[in-house]
Amino acid sequence: MATTFTEKQEALVKESWELMKQNIPELSVRFFTTVIEIAPQAKPMFSFLKDTDEIPQNNPKLKAHAMKVFKMTCESAVQLREKGEVVVADSTLSYLGAVHVKKGVIDPHFEVVKEALLRTLESGLGDKWNEEMKCAWSEAYDQLATAIKDEMKEER
Ligand code: HEM
Repeated sequence: MATTFTEKQEALVKESWELMKQNIPELSVRFFTTVIEIAPQAKPMFSFLKDTDEIPQNNPKLKAHAMKVFKMTCESAVQLREKGEVVVADSTLSYLGAVHVKKGVIDPHFEVVKEALLRTLESGLGDKWNEEMKCAWSEAYDQLATAIKDEMKEER
């Protein structure tokens, strides 16, 4: 569905991401700690979490997933401003659909990841975090999540 995403919203997402990405290891761990706090039952789905009681501090797969969620949300913000919709390349989308179906991800998990993303941004940005930023990230994430969820329905 086409939507209006302003230049200001795009700038807010981009600026906050520039600040956050200066500390990727900490951001990644914080993000996954929050995911598991909100939904402990999701832990066994992740290969790098299932056999451990602690969130691993320097795991490449953990970092890769956290980065994908943040970066693709950021890219979605750019597309929303440029085109009014999120367009993920077909090959990427079918890969994402397949991986998540295979791992047992279901729609409500996307709300968990959204909440973790927002809380991670809030704690990372401190004073710089505000309601407008939250709305912009939420909108970009929701549109991306919808694209992935729709693809997952095709895969099933
Ligand atoms: C794997 C992206 C949401 C659970 C992946 C991979 C990508 C990705 C790119 C493949 C990583 C690789 O190639 O190794 C995303 C994006 C999301 C999202 C962009 C949302 C915008 C979710 C949600 C869940 C989830 C909501 C469930 C809570 C998983 C799991 C794997 C995976 C379990 C396999 C990871 C492993 O064990 O190595 N995701 N994901 N993802 N994703 Fe997501």
